[in-house]
Amino acid sequence: MADNDLMEKLVSLSKRRGYVFQSSEIYGGTGSVWDYGPLGVELKRNVKDAWWRAMVHERDDIEGLDAAILMHPKVWEASGHIAEFTDPLVECRNCHRRFRVDTLLSETGAKELETAQCPSCGKRGEWTEPRNFNLMFKTFMGPAEDSANVVYLRPETAQGIYVNFLNVQQSARQRVPFGIAQIGKAFRNEITPGNFTFRTREFEQMEMQFFVKPGTDEAAFEEWRERRMKWHTEVMGLSPDRLRYHPHEKLAHYASAAGDVEFFFGGTIGDEGWGEIEGIHNRTDFDLKRHQEFSGKKLLYVDAQNNERYIPYIIETSVGADRVTLAVLANAYREEAVEGETRVVLSIKPSLAPLKCGVFPLVKKDGMPERATAIHEDLRRRGIPSFYDEAGAIGRRYRRQDEAGTPFCITVDGETMEQGTVTIRDRDSMEQTRLSQDEIVNWLTERLR
Ligand code: GAP
Repeated sequence: MADNDLMEKLVSLSKRRGYVFQSSEIYGGTGSVWDYGPLGVELKRNVKDAWWRAMVHERDDIEGLDAAILMHPKVWEASGHIAEFTDPLVECRNCHRRFRVDTLLSETGAKELETAQCPSCGKRGEWTEPRNFNLMFKTFMGPAEDSANVVYLRPETAQGIYVNFLNVQQSARQRVPFGIAQIGKAFRNEITPGNFTFRTREFEQMEMQFFVKPGTDEAAFEEWRERRMKWHTEVMGLSPDRLRYHPHEKLAHYASAAGDVEFFFGGTIGDEGWGEIEGIHNRTDFDLKRHQEFSGKKLLYVDAQNNERYIPYIIETSVGADRVTLAVLANAYREEAVEGETRVVLSIKPSLAPLKCGVFPLVKKDGMPERATAIHEDLRRRGIPSFYDEAGAIGRRYRRQDEAGTPFCITVDGETMEQGTVTIRDRDSMEQTRLSQDEIVNWLTERLR
């Protein structure tokens, strides 16, 4: 399903089941900031763990890093963010709502501002002169709120990697080509945030910067592009027909090649429903050269074996943890008619699902709750997140787990008490398999990989 209502349905399901809540909701909410609830935090953590496994743990040539959010203010001069990280902004003179000029023109279909109608109040052509608005959040380091103490909340995690390039390379004794990966918060004072967690002002990025010898950068870019596309389908379980690669025609100031991995969310996201979830860039030697220039410190890579010195080129893969999590939810959401009722199912890949199984006693008597509790506790002890539920009819308990995205439900019934077997129900097919209680862990482990 990819209809226009999908986002609304996801917002409502997320609140109902504890995936995502609006931030500071009891105060009327904060603009485009969201909190992850009990199931959401597990899903997002599983997404991040899967990325870390693929990018760091399974590779000898990529090291992990966790750099601080607050950095020396000169970092943002060197990176170009102070001069370039701006959007042209206009304000409607009638209702005082503000819009990004490019979004306004594309959403209203107007060729120029003079003919664009305000999406909020409907007035036409009543716009202030466009002015550039910097998207970085400013704050102050220390007690004095003056310009000498201005620092910024980082708008991307990448710069923390560039300034640590030699620290990591030398301490981990890496040789080019190698990469540095990190996961962390980034902040952008977006003018037109929206579409649930798609465009927010506080979000998390999973970025990897791969340092290569100049001249090998184009081949490395292609390799990473292919690898990252595969990760989205094979590891995140995103449907291949809802995924595409879109090369950039207009390049950012630092890039010689760039493109986006896009997912089809539908509705008002991006280009006719296709929204960017990951950017892949050939950043050349721009960043290291600029940091060398602004810091006055040499950022040369010394290849002692080949007696060479150079500033490496960088291939960057930058994916939003929140956007991929939203794509996983959108990809998983299904509604189907079952026995005259609508069944809502989140068909999340079992390896990513927040809960791996529900455990239910068929009835609240005859020793079944005790047996079911013992199975639930055993699963939890073995690191398999499980949920015990004895409330209500068994059909309703299955439905609650379907909506929560739990791939398997184990039911303890009369046969369990007599013969030691349980049923395991598959969320997607609703088929039930009967197996011995002793086989549960192996059966689940095979399917949770
Ligand atoms: N270091 C490169 C960089 O930051 P980007 O294309 O601006 O590149 C990379 O951002 C990814 O970060 C995007 O593909 C998206 O997944 C995520 N992202 C960017 N802005 C976001 C926002 N306002 N809300 C949520 N995610 C965002």
